[in-house]
Amino acid sequence: MPTANDMFYFAHGLENILRPPLVFLHGAGGSHLHWPPQVRRMDSQRIYALDLPGHGKSGGVGRQSIQNYAADVMKFLDRVGLNAAVIVGHSMGGAIALTLTLDYPKRVLGLGLVGTGARLRVLPAILEATSNAERFSEAVQLINDMAFGPAASAGLKELAKRQMMTVRSTVLHGDFVACDRFDVMPRLGEITVPTLILCGTEDRLTPLKYSEFLHRHIPNSQLITFPGAGHMVMLEQPEAVAQAISRFANTIPYYPGIVV
Ligand code: COA
Repeated sequence: MPTANDMFYFAHGLENILRPPLVFLHGAGGSHLHWPPQVRRMDSQRIYALDLPGHGKSGGVGRQSIQNYAADVMKFLDRVGLNAAVIVGHSMGGAIALTLTLDYPKRVLGLGLVGTGARLRVLPAILEATSNAERFSEAVQLINDMAFGPAASAGLKELAKRQMMTVRSTVLHGDFVACDRFDVMPRLGEITVPTLILCGTEDRLTPLKYSEFLHRHIPNSQLITFPGAGHMVMLEQPEAVAQAISRFANTIPYYPGIVV
């Protein structure tokens, strides 16, 4: 089981050394499994999909700040020897990706923002329900009900719910606290790397207006919307999301061996 800095990572296509590495970061209460096979096993790409500390197969404890998760990802990059990478994040993972890009710009070749925003205030009902271990299943139900678009199958929603039930309640709560504190709205103009923004039109946890805001304020950005999809757009429309990320990755200039 590959780990670096006590963090599990799923790896694919590491032999594609002429391709820029893509590092995928999941959202609150998630794991690398939030990136479906169509995405995490994309042809001809070099992929690392992490389990953040306290999540999935990783050790450690969850954090209560995006800055701390960003520091964990930096340590991961150092440990696996990646000078720079394309960072793709979903929801809370997008907040981490934005933070890495702003605070360590030389380490980020490109930025992928999936169902996320520059500020991620959280519904008080979610913060309250996740703060109480006895209400954990109620919290998961509430989050899951808001996470999918109307076309998502009952099977997909049930699977997502079962996966979230395996997360420790303190970790899930810490993730939402971290999101609630996050706000880089005034800083988006500092981002210069090519940026791909993906959002489902029916996203209720990070509504499309958040992605439109990102697109308006990040100079070198493109926005692709997915009609009918909700917050878990990559699970709901995996082929279309994989295609968009792969096309984007192929436009990123990459010069292996250049140390930044
Ligand atoms: N991008 C663009 N605009 C944003 C934004 C973002 N990332 N975050 C907030 N805004 C906008 C809001 O739309 C709102 O605009 P309006 O006044 O024109 O309606 C304004 O900024 C203030 O919003 P917010 O800071 O979110 O405070 P609020 O008191 O209006 O709402 C919530 C608080 C929690 C009800 C709301 O943020 C929400 O519904 N969040 C989504 C649900 C959720 O919990 N998601 C989890 C994210 S991890």
